[in-house]
Amino acid sequence: MTLRVAILLSGGGSNMAALADSMHGDHPARPCLVLSNNPVAGGLGLAADRDIPTACVDHRRFGGDRTAFEAALHAELSAVAPDLICLAGFMRILTPPFIDHWRGRMLNVHPSLLPKYRGLDTHARAIAAGDAEAGCTVHEVTAALDDGPILGQARVPIAPGDDPATLSARVLRAEHELYPAVLRRVADGDRRPLILP
Ligand code: GAR
Repeated sequence: MTLRVAILLSGGGSNMAALADSMHGDHPARPCLVLSNNPVAGGLGLAADRDIPTACVDHRRFGGDRTAFEAALHAELSAVAPDLICLAGFMRILTPPFIDHWRGRMLNVHPSLLPKYRGLDTHARAIAAGDAEAGCTVHEVTAALDDGPILGQARVPIAPGDDPATLSARVLRAEHELYPAVLRRVADGDRRPLILP
């Protein structure tokens, strides 16, 4: 059985591209939808280039009504019946009822070595703390922000003179290795944490 993977994003979509490009040959999964909350997200174009169906639910149409926004997201997702949902730079906080519905089926990539630096500005915070290394984490999504069982981590060094932009580029390259590798393991039914390199 081929697993169906929906990918949610808000921006450039480089993680989406890495995930989508990994799902070929004997990979047990294929992308079924790329969904964005941002109509001008670059990732929508990258998905269209790959002939992956796309959809957009613009959160601004709903004012502050998260329930209505998530109902619309839920409708788009339910229509394609994904086995797995990969959050890939999806920058909206999801509420517990939405997360509970997809529990065990939703993954996220976060640009820090969780449990360090949940939330935003992870690279600036790691540099300000004087950390020697940074990295990224793929985890199962649970109701707590940037929490949930860790499925994989990759570490990168922080170089003298790094700023958030240079560190972010290094971490992003690690994300592009880690996230597809974790997706493949999860699709194969293996949820033991994968530690790279
Ligand atoms: C990635 O670095 C991802 O880890 C981060 O957004 C970037 C998206 O890049 N996600 C978060 O910060 C989620 N809290 P991309 O659009 O090129 O994949």
